[in-house]
Amino acid sequence: MSTAGKVIKCKAAVAWEPNKPLVIEEIEVDPPQPNEVRVKIVATGLCRTDLYYLYDTDNTKIFPMVLGHEGAGIVESVGPKVTEFQPGDKVIPLIISQCRECRFCKSPKTNQCENAWDIVPHNVEKAPVSKLNCKGKKLLQFMGISTFSEYSVINQNALAKIDPAAPLDKVCLLGCGVCTGFGAAVNDAKVEPGSTCAVFGLGAVGLAAIMGCKYAGAKRIIAVDVNANKFKKAEEFGATDCVNPKDHSKTISQVLLEMTNGGVDYSLECVGNVELMRHALESCLQGWGVSVIVGWTDKHDVSVRPAQLIAGRTWKGSVFGGFKGKDGVAEMVRAYLDHKVKIDEFITHNLPLDRINEAIELLQAGKSIRTVLSFTSQ
Ligand code: CU
Repeated sequence: MSTAGKVIKCKAAVAWEPNKPLVIEEIEVDPPQPNEVRVKIVATGLCRTDLYYLYDTDNTKIFPMVLGHEGAGIVESVGPKVTEFQPGDKVIPLIISQCRECRFCKSPKTNQCENAWDIVPHNVEKAPVSKLNCKGKKLLQFMGISTFSEYSVINQNALAKIDPAAPLDKVCLLGCGVCTGFGAAVNDAKVEPGSTCAVFGLGAVGLAAIMGCKYAGAKRIIAVDVNANKFKKAEEFGATDCVNPKDHSKTISQVLLEMTNGGVDYSLECVGNVELMRHALESCLQGWGVSVIVGWTDKHDVSVRPAQLIAGRTWKGSVFGGFKGKDGVAEMVRAYLDHKVKIDEFITHNLPLDRINEAIELLQAGKSIRTVLSFTSQ
């Protein structure tokens, strides 16, 4: 029996308030409005950014909310004016929209989109009315997506149609972490063959950055983390050296400068720590070193001595690996199906949505890279 046009009742993990475990609830999901698509989410990854807005935020306006922004699913129904999608299509929700019409979308210089709508948490007041409801309350849609729900309603500019052969419980990781790290190395740092790279932070994004450096032909890839348990995995992805800052009395940038005869060609900060961002820049070779900020934070300033930049280092940021949402995700799905990029190796745990709080504990304890949560009922 078709569910199109009707309210769907389903399960979701609800963040009622900050700093509390998520609660599995039955929620109601409204039908899609013009330009919107209702998607049955099949699988979703748990990303550190979800936890940032659950635990490290002082913005109480964003609650109650359904988190989750790294998912994959199948189109259930489409609203008016939707031409690109039809029921049954496999899709990945996007944290970076692509309308294909604005000046940003038409330029190869950026993956920003002017028609990306104002989303929670960045503009709560102007965010579109949520389609998710529970106990008479509107649940805000994190990033406009909310993949910790069996169904969600998403603007068509924020959905990528992908190859029907793609396994959704794997390619869901292309919704954030894998594209973010891989693209930061390949598209934004523009790592060159034979170069030396340093990657700070060995979560999913950092490992994907290592994969990107290797893909681009780097000859030496130095992995940096304070958790030595992550080094084995880093080597599997292509790291040639692993450094634990805790093993050294010197600063990590001094250690790297000595290891590399003056600095690396490219460094990528994949943690979101402003001190580390500075060390990543200072680890670069003067003259042409490029340092890319990938880890997310909106709370602190970064600083550096101008002489570092005047001497020819470049400091830049990267969001979603510089990939244009729809095109980049579809391309990365094909690269995975052609065995050119890894995804399976990021997945350390698989759990049903009901056990999402266990997944959160694993990530916080540094025991998982990615837990893929699946939606088994329905
Ligand atoms: Cu993410």
